[in-house]
Amino acid sequence: MSVPEHVAIIMDGNGRWAKAKGMPRNYGHVQGAKTVEDMCEIAWNMGIKYLTVYAFSTENWSRPKDEVNALMKLLRNYMKNCIKRASANNMRVRVIGDKTGLDEDIRKSIADLEEATKGYTGLNFTIAINYGGRDEITRAVRSLAKDVENGTLKPEDITDKMISERLDTGDLPDPDLLIRTCGELRVSNFLLWQISYSEIYVTDVAWPDFNEAELKKACDAYEGRTRKFGNVAQ
Ligand code: FPP
Repeated sequence: MSVPEHVAIIMDGNGRWAKAKGMPRNYGHVQGAKTVEDMCEIAWNMGIKYLTVYAFSTENWSRPKDEVNALMKLLRNYMKNCIKRASANNMRVRVIGDKTGLDEDIRKSIADLEEATKGYTGLNFTIAINYGGRDEITRAVRSLAKDVENGTLKPEDITDKMISERLDTGDLPDPDLLIRTCGELRVSNFLLWQISYSEIYVTDVAWPDFNEAELKKACDAYEGRTRKFGNVAQ
């Protein structure tokens, strides 16, 4: 079986999943966080080397204050507890997104987690927090423009590889497969530059119900398509 090297996931449907059970939306996020933990082990055991998840977008700040606070609390706890789990699983954790928009204590936990796991050679797990594809490209363009301004770069020497390297994902390969749960056919500002050639798989299953069998279905669909088209990016 040809397993995608890098799988990116838009984890949608926590709210609808909770509502269907007569529970508050935040309960859906708590269950969604548990699914994230399971998925890291499942993905690695299936042979996936990079897993990237969309945990909090630049647009998510406009949600009701109590939901934003609950999501931040979840992420805070996740960062703190993740070091132990990452060491046990040899997992390298990175966070992408505009970290300057996050509270100081979360930034510190992220820095500690990235530092503590940087030598690990198992799953490369990347969490997008305060992330927006347009924001990421804007920051990359500004950084190139600064080099032009100070004379170390000529505009005509800018290549797409250089842009890729200035993105938050500069040291990651592009995703082979983008999965979106809970049915919407949108990319929602996620990894806009990086998914240029990714296969897209959308399932109606809500994120808290996503499991090994569902990930396998997505990988089977990916394998079927790459076999048919010879995995030639076009
Ligand atoms: C979309 O569901 C999900 C989110 C905005 C947040 C995703 C966060 C988690 C899965 C938990 C924390 C993550 C980590 C890495 C620990 P939604 O609320 O938009 O659902 P809806 O579309 O049904 O309303």
